[in-house]
Amino acid sequence: MPQLPAPAYPDDVRARLETDAKEIISRYPGSRSALLPLLHLVQAEEGHVTRTGMQFCADMLDLTTAEVTAVATFYTMYRRAPSGDYQVGVCTNTLCAVMGGDAIFESLQEHLAVGNGGTTDDGKITLEHIECNAACDFAPVVMVNWEFFDNQTPESAKRLVDDLRAGAQVSPTRGAPLCTFKETARILAGFPDEREGAVEASGSAGPASLIGLRLAKGETPPARVVHPRTEVVDGDAPHEPSPGEHLSSHDAPQSTSASDPSHPAGPAAEEGE
Ligand code: FES
Repeated sequence: MPQLPAPAYPDDVRARLETDAKEIISRYPGSRSALLPLLHLVQAEEGHVTRTGMQFCADMLDLTTAEVTAVATFYTMYRRAPSGDYQVGVCTNTLCAVMGGDAIFESLQEHLAVGNGGTTDDGKITLEHIECNAACDFAPVVMVNWEFFDNQTPESAKRLVDDLRAGAQVSPTRGAPLCTFKETARILAGFPDEREGAVEASGSAGPASLIGLRLAKGETPPARVVHPRTEVVDGDAPHEPSPGEHLSSHDAPQSTSASDPSHPAGPAAEEGE
């Protein structure tokens, strides 16, 4: 049976989105290249990519809805169902998983009473597994609306989601200030983030990421990197946070395999040794 046409946007919404879409399309030599940002634009409108949004993209780009649907369903950054104000993504790729990502995900599932892709009853949090976000040096990583929360533990992650649900001030470990999922989608559509301090805060690499660069330059790397934004300690006297000290609003105490004397790092032993 043929599918019914997608419901239309109200006239005022359609007119506003058309203005934005034309601005996005004008940035590309071929209009169809604008499909990915246009999908973010319609996601910013309704919080997920609806049939109405896909029809709008098809109309604006002279594509079929089948072509738009094929792209929208391929990329996991486009949501196909209503979701929460905050997408809490727990990296469960290999490094984060072994550093505690799996434990964080399990504890958040239990704490929030939702499964992968589920949204809490208050509409605040959508929990999901995410793939590696190239922040392995800060593992295990949790991302909220694609902002980084580094070096998490089950306890720090539970505190994070509790504060998000309560509307408390929450600051990512690094990068731009946190905003809602819809606001994030509009930024990803290519509209500038005009919040105070957002531009200055974005795009910075943390010290743990820069160790390789320092080694390549022949410099001596720090014995241990403690905190990516506020405190870096070089040399032989690593900083140990005092009891109760948290290095940003939601960082966990720093504890890595380097602090585990029963599992010292080093080259693997040859067979037969
Ligand atoms: S494995 Fe988690 S950020 Fe790379």
